Amino acid sequence: MDRQQCVLVLGATGYAGRHIVRQLHDGGYRVRAVVRDKQRALETGAYDAPALHGRVDEWIVSSDGSQLDASIMTEVDHVVSALGVTRQQADPWTVDFLLNLHYLKLAEQQDVKTFMYIGVMNAATGTSTVSRAKHAFMEALGRSSVRAQIVNPSAYFSDLTEVFNVARRGMAFGLGNGSVQLSPIHGADLADFCLAKLSDDAGTWDVGGPEVLTYRQVVQLAFQTLGRKERYLPIPGVVASSAVWLTDRASPRAASLMRFFLEGIQTDSVGALHGHRTLGEYYASLR
Ligand SMILES: NC(=O)c1ccc[n+]([C@@H]2O[C@H](COP(=O)([O-])OP(=O)(O)OC[C@H]3O[C@@H](n4cnc5c(N)ncnc54)[C@H](OP(=O)(O)O)[C@@H]3O)[C@@H](O)[C@H]2O)c1
Repeated sequence: MDRQQCVLVLGATGYAGRHIVRQLHDGGYRVRAVVRDKQRALETGAYDAPALHGRVDEWIVSSDGSQLDASIMTEVDHVVSALGVTRQQADPWTVDFLLNLHYLKLAEQQDVKTFMYIGVMNAATGTSTVSRAKHAFMEALGRSSVRAQIVNPSAYFSDLTEVFNVARRGMAFGLGNGSVQLSPIHGADLADFCLAKLSDDAGTWDVGGPEVLTYRQVVQLAFQTLGRKERYLPIPGVVASSAVWLTDRASPRAASLMRFFLEGIQTDSVGALHGHRTLGEYYASLR
């Protein structure tokens, strides 16, 4: 009988990571997860992302993954990395680039078949540190002896929860008229896409959920779900850039995340349409 395929998941406690672990477990894979805090991992995550209790076969607990050696890759067939800085107090170069690169080197040493990286669309053109760090890792991965798989999702439902929350407070805002296009994706639909690609060749895929919406339509959907009249404040680009410049004086890290977010809502990010979970259903569940 064939050995059960083993997948090492990095960033397993995040929104995307938790959905990926659940799908892998349900799909019959052996899951090895690297986490910083096992107790937190066992519980349900933010935005109702799945608890990892009963879904992980082997735990690797490490507060600083850079100390781990190639033994963590023993018998691993595939690595999936959803490791990246979002709201954490950390430098994207240290995590998105260097820490992922560290794991890639360990995977190379143990001849792992594939390394799937959950990146972001438009990283090659983004000017924030987050985009640059992600793009640098994608470049390194593309030159690796391990088969490189890069999945670039559109906006997660988790991130778009914030639009719902500001609508709940009565006023949403966005850059200009909000005509930028997104294809919002639920973590479970993203995980489903990743699993389908796991045994594929090397490749890069832009992926979104089942529908394309402008940012403004997302705002309208939030107000509509709440049964409220839409109130939208368009922020001129120059005001947003000045805010980044001023924030940079106090906190370059916060300014970089702000720049990443602003570039994200100025640039279309529409991937191949995938899955069936709609943002409208998700917002209705928040109400
Ligand atoms: N959110 C979106 O709309 C969106 C869209 C496209 C792409 N992406 C990208 O997809 C990836 C996953 O996003 P997500 O929303 O799932 O993020 P998330 O919920 O913040 O999860 C990130 C994961 O990375 C880990 N991590 C962060 N900093 C770390 C550090 N210093 N040391 C060790 N581990 C660290 C986190 O561990 P802890 O749980 O211990 O903090 C967590 O497991 C990110 O690279 C993100 O940029 C996000």
